[in-house]
Amino acid sequence: MQYDQLVNKTHPYQEKNNQNRHLLSIKNMRGEEIFIEEKTYRAFLELQDALRKENIEIGLIDAFRTQEEQEEIYQIYQQQFGKSYAKKYVAGKDKSEHLTGLAIDIGILEDGKIYEELEDIIQLQDQLDVIFSHLEAYGFLLRYPKDKEEITEISYEPWHYRYVGKQLAKTLTEENLTLEEYFAKKE
Ligand code: DAL
Ligand code: ZN
Repeated sequence: MQYDQLVNKTHPYQEKNNQNRHLLSIKNMRGEEIFIEEKTYRAFLELQDALRKENIEIGLIDAFRTQEEQEEIYQIYQQQFGKSYAKKYVAGKDKSEHLTGLAIDIGILEDGKIYEELEDIIQLQDQLDVIFSHLEAYGFLLRYPKDKEEITEISYEPWHYRYVGKQLAKTLTEENLTLEEYFAKKE
């Protein structure tokens, strides 16, 4: 399992980077069954615990997706919001890092309500600031930041975090790099 892999519009999902992956079946915060890569889940639980101590309750909404599920999400977005919006928020069926099991979408529980959609979650800026400041310590990266939309080619997604391991998360955060910029330097 490669924790430092790049999956995006120009780097499709590659099976060879995901050999011997161990996916766990868990319940998301809506009580639905989802799958997630094992180390990613363990790191998420630690992050969740640390945030609880700050009185912030996060939960998982989604993690691993099959290509069929990814395509279905894309089609739904396209029908509801049009093609250009869909392209900004949903990767193509073989170009999503959700296919790896290393990407998580979270929701924030506040006053009994789950905040997960963009227009809801951006109302919780104070909580988001605290969440973002904790990501690196648990090996996660805010994958699609607001000021890097032209580089990631995906709109700001305050709910989508990518597990890369603690060491790489530290490097990327300290150097303010997206995975695109990091891999461009390496290639
Ligand atoms: N929302 C992200 C870009 C995905 O569909 O993988
Ligand atoms: Zn996502």
